[in-house]
Amino acid sequence: MGKINIGRRTNSILSRDRKVMLTTTRAPYPFVPDHGEGDIVYDVEGNRFIDFSSFVSVYNLGVGGNAAIRRSMTGQIKKLTHNAFTDYYSERPVRFAEKLVSMMPRGFGRVFFSNSGTEANEAALKFSRVFTERQYVMSFYGAFHGRTGGVLGMTSSKPVQKEHFGPFPNVIHAIYPDTYRNPFNIDDADELSDACIEHIEKDILGKGYSQKEISAIFIEPMQGESGYVIPPKRFMKELSRVATENGILLVADEIQTGYMRTGKFLALDNFNVQADIYTLAKSLGGGTPIGATITRTSLGDIPAGSHANTFGGNLLAIAAAEASLDYVKRNMRSLQRNIKERGAYIMKRLGEMKDKYEIVGDCRGIGLFIGMELVKDRKTKEPAVEGLEDVLKECFYNGLIILPAGKSVVRIIPPLTVSQKSVESGMDILEEAVKKADAKSKN
Ligand SMILES: Cc1ncc(COP(=O)(O)O)c(C=O)c1O
Repeated sequence: MGKINIGRRTNSILSRDRKVMLTTTRAPYPFVPDHGEGDIVYDVEGNRFIDFSSFVSVYNLGVGGNAAIRRSMTGQIKKLTHNAFTDYYSERPVRFAEKLVSMMPRGFGRVFFSNSGTEANEAALKFSRVFTERQYVMSFYGAFHGRTGGVLGMTSSKPVQKEHFGPFPNVIHAIYPDTYRNPFNIDDADELSDACIEHIEKDILGKGYSQKEISAIFIEPMQGESGYVIPPKRFMKELSRVATENGILLVADEIQTGYMRTGKFLALDNFNVQADIYTLAKSLGGGTPIGATITRTSLGDIPAGSHANTFGGNLLAIAAAEASLDYVKRNMRSLQRNIKERGAYIMKRLGEMKDKYEIVGDCRGIGLFIGMELVKDRKTKEPAVEGLEDVLKECFYNGLIILPAGKSVVRIIPPLTVSQKSVESGMDILEEAVKKADAKSKN
């Protein structure tokens, strides 16, 4: 197909995987990564790829973390790796929590550590029930908050994720203001925002549920898994008002949008809004499993023993996370410049592609959180599901790792340190793939 050769080693791993692994979601190409650095990754065959995926939004500072992250982990391995942090005491997680709090808006001072995004959200769900003594929770259609029992009810991204696992009591879904696809058929961002807020205030709170029973509104500041959807600024401000007026906590799931992806530590800062609880995971650990739930200090504490885990605050994960955050703090200016400049270049190239290829329905992004939606027809906006698969495969076989989101969105999330050279080469490969898919769709 392209310049990438897939041989016996890859095929053997794939067939053994199929026999022994229970269930997974997998990209539509046979990628078996072996090692990498920065924005370059090699597979087990020795093929070289540019990474536009950050390994599903984890390696924000580059494939394999970076030298400082690896050094920090190596140092910690020589001492303890497990510290039973929810039973005993340990300085390093406390120090990291203090550093994390210093990145948050003023008034945020309490941190709970877990091992993943879904766990960070489970904690937020439980904490908001304790803080408010209310049982219901609101989230949005299209949301992805994880896959464990509690938060799965709030997830509403793909039916396959929930089929067999319900019912999910005490969860209400509202309409997310997707400016490209919305049931109101409104193009104007402010009008769409008003329609969505009216739906929450008049239909959900006015008719369906007593606001006195709703503990929290969970929201991704920009929806990730369901298609890199960016809401209008006005919506987030208004949603914050609705939450405050009704004594409902606003929980920002920053698991995919946070950690500098948009150029700010928290994506919600792009909307000049503050939440009451933030959740972080994915890139927080620089390649190790860690989740964090960070609450507004004024919300207080939760009863001792009402929530805990074995590995939260694990020293190996904390060592990586601390080195990663130290790097971010030390290199804030240059990181922000890189995110802005590389993001602007990608958006410019996507705009040009939209002018040339009918299959490109929409391009959107903030910083290096970027999506390109492919459609069969610009008028009907029918998702180009096969077109997306073709594009992803074509990119892979020409040396670019790139992931999907939603039904037909190309998700462009390179490491935040990506070089201009890699961005240009990656966009050249992507454009060739889109050109082919566009030509195929016309036949
Ligand atoms: C916004 C968001 N929340 C939660 C999660 C779940 O995180 P994890 O897979 O670490 O459980 C994800 C994962 O994709 C996510 O994107």
